[in-house]
Amino acid sequence: MNLLKTLLVGLVLAFSGALIALAQTPAAKSATSSKGISVLHPTAGNKATGTVTFTPVAGGVQVHAEIAGLTPGKHGFHIHEFGDCSAADGSSAGGHFNPTNEPHAGPDAAARHEGDMGNVEADASGNAKLDYVDHRISIGNDAKSAIGRSVIVHAKPDDLKTQPTGDAGGRIACGVIGWAKTQ
Ligand code: CU
Ligand code: ZN
Repeated sequence: MNLLKTLLVGLVLAFSGALIALAQTPAAKSATSSKGISVLHPTAGNKATGTVTFTPVAGGVQVHAEIAGLTPGKHGFHIHEFGDCSAADGSSAGGHFNPTNEPHAGPDAAARHEGDMGNVEADASGNAKLDYVDHRISIGNDAKSAIGRSVIVHAKPDDLKTQPTGDAGGRIACGVIGWAKTQ
């Protein structure tokens, strides 16, 4: 009988604890954030690292990339379909993000993959910066959202015309695109 009583008291206490915890939880927030982010990690045998942010602005999404550990010159820079960087060579990220089934091209082309961000260009120290407004992608919950996809940096330049990859060579860095923590 004492054991049962102890159990009951324990249950009641645990239940009230849960209620208090619930009451203290702030009002549910939207699952989305005002900014997307991808932290780039090198694939096997490479050393490129970096951060890419995606911030909504009037008419599109501001893409800001800072990448290091590159060979000097241009490197293909894309959003790939899957947010999966698990393969040692980055192949798990799939092909270019292309929800509208258009040909491969550059970021300024009328018809292009949503993921066609063109090239980043590294200086003599292997550092690259890129800033442009993309008019195709979003970071919302729609079909053109970059969230849940990945950013891939390539070994070679994207020629902006060879189908379907721009002949950009191997994948030297991969980063999943998620929502950034914002205040
Ligand atoms: Cu690519
Ligand atoms: Zn493409």
